[in-house]
Amino acid sequence: MKVAIASDHGGIHIREEIINLMKEMKIDYLDIGCDCNSGSVDYPDYAFPVAHKVASGEVDRGILICGTGIGMSISANKVNGVRCALAHDTFSAKATREHNDTNVLALGERVIGPGLAREIAKIWLTTEFLGGRHSKRIEKISDYEKSTL
Ligand code: RB5
Repeated sequence: MKVAIASDHGGIHIREEIINLMKEMKIDYLDIGCDCNSGSVDYPDYAFPVAHKVASGEVDRGILICGTGIGMSISANKVNGVRCALAHDTFSAKATREHNDTNVLALGERVIGPGLAREIAKIWLTTEFLGGRHSKRIEKISDYEKSTL
């Protein structure tokens, strides 16, 4: 699995934590930034490149971190083919892979600490989509996206 990861200035520390986790898990990753020295940056400038890499299949999954995770999740979900979940608990992290087949995870560094972020990311990275009855619901989202093109 290959994962693209990015944060704005509000998510630098959790990005670092999750990069370390992916190194430990031997997951191939692509770090899109932001650079710690960039000062204040705009989260859409980081969410869209990651989302497009997921949508195009260049990477399998994306992880986005900002202060709340909300701006990143709103932005990522604008890209057709992306199903981004903002998850700040381990139950949601597991359920959103099993039920929603989410391909992008958003986290907020001003909401949760690095330890919980690591646990959430680990569960999200290792949980499989259950398929079955959940597939037709995902198809309805894809069909809707196609109808708006
Ligand atoms: C940046 O100040 C902050 O607005 C951003 O990190 C994020 O929380 C937006 O949703």
